[in-house]
Amino acid sequence: MKIHKVVDDIYRLSTNIEDNKYLFEGIWPIPHGISINGYLIKGEKNVIIDLTQDIFDFPKEITQQMEGVELGIEDIDIIVMNHMEPDHSGWLKAFCAQNSKAMIYCTKKAIPLLQAFASVPAERAIAITDGMVLEIGDYELQFFDTPNIHWPETMMTYERKRGILFSCDAFGSYGSIDEHAIFDDQISEEKHQFFENEALRYYANIVSTFSPFVLKGLEKLQGLDIKVICPSHGIIWRNNPSVIIEHYKRYASYSKGPAEREVTIVWSSMYGNTKQVLNMVVEVLRKRKIPVHIFQVPGDEIGYILASAWKSAGLIFGMPTYEYKMFPPMAHTIEELMVKKVSKKKVFRFGSYGWVGGAQKDFETKTEKSGWDILGHYEWQGAPTEEDQQAIKTAVEGYCDALIEFTEK
Ligand SMILES: Cc1cc2nc3c(=O)[nH]c(=O)nc-3n(C[C@H](O)[C@H](O)[C@H](O)COP(=O)(O)O)c2cc1C
Ligand SMILES: [Fe+2]
Ligand SMILES: [Fe+2]
Repeated sequence: MKIHKVVDDIYRLSTNIEDNKYLFEGIWPIPHGISINGYLIKGEKNVIIDLTQDIFDFPKEITQQMEGVELGIEDIDIIVMNHMEPDHSGWLKAFCAQNSKAMIYCTKKAIPLLQAFASVPAERAIAITDGMVLEIGDYELQFFDTPNIHWPETMMTYERKRGILFSCDAFGSYGSIDEHAIFDDQISEEKHQFFENEALRYYANIVSTFSPFVLKGLEKLQGLDIKVICPSHGIIWRNNPSVIIEHYKRYASYSKGPAEREVTIVWSSMYGNTKQVLNMVVEVLRKRKIPVHIFQVPGDEIGYILASAWKSAGLIFGMPTYEYKMFPPMAHTIEELMVKKVSKKKVFRFGSYGWVGGAQKDFETKTEKSGWDILGHYEWQGAPTEEDQQAIKTAVEGYCDALIEFTEK
């Protein structure tokens, strides 16, 4: 990839993770890759905003991109670290070893992390204060403390004269970026849809737990005249940045409910007894014109289940009892939904048991603090009978009524 001009002497430095076996943050599958973006301002003083991860040959690639505007590592005067997660700071240790003059602008909370992650002493850091402005020639960088989007030390950088927000992980998305289409006005409608899906999955996987902070952060940015958004993952929004701002507002608002009138079904079955009622549940939902997304565990990836669950106002779980508890892969899924604070959902559960059951009690215990409204459940012994099927049908009909009322705008 070559260096790309954003505007004037501001450039994008970027690489894509394209190894489809790579798990982002060690958990999340990224079959369509992800870009890691940093930005360079060439001027009276040369500034780099966020670095890159020290994997593959990313530092070398970024160094080569910098050479495209005749700058080397030693020419950088200021490093702005919006975020200390190693996808953006991994290169910092080696970078600072080669460049002993650059001062690092970051939040106060980031300073101990500089040492811990990159062996960079506090003497090289300048702690920003919220709203502080750094004038460098023709550029005015204003720093905003935006804690917990998504680590405690995160901040954003705003170039005031041009209205450019360097938002780091906020407004980011999965998906590799094509060299010839890095701006929102260079991509097709179809590709926009692709990035919207990738942004939702990124949000649900990486940011969702911190949604109240996203809402606070969005409020803080409201007064700014944002003309361009340069995120650390994904395309640059220069034509219509409000698109991604609105998406993020919507994603964050799902934490307060209701999300969309859709249902995510997650099911498991060892011998097919629980599975036998699945078609019927789906049929009832479809008859009521409620979009349904179906996932099986184990098998389907948690990263995808999370994205679907985050966007759906309704969740339905089907799983049998296993050693007096929920079937373990489902217990794991539920735990992950709790970690990500998937909340304010209308919920139903069904499942088979062999002798005395136990899954329902376990399910209720594990979701006690979820903020879910569990509208009902249905359990049966062994294979479902005609009566069981009928009873579930009636229960799911009632569930649909409640979901429709809940999502009435
Ligand atoms: C390893 C294992 C553990 C089980 N533990 C329980 C249990 O603790 N309590 C119970 O009522 N049934 C238990 N069962 C029985 C299953 O819940 C029952 O076979 C059920 O019909 C399975 O549904 P499925 O066909 O959808 O997998 C267990 C079954 C297996 C294979
Ligand atoms: Fe991050
Ligand atoms: Fe990141």
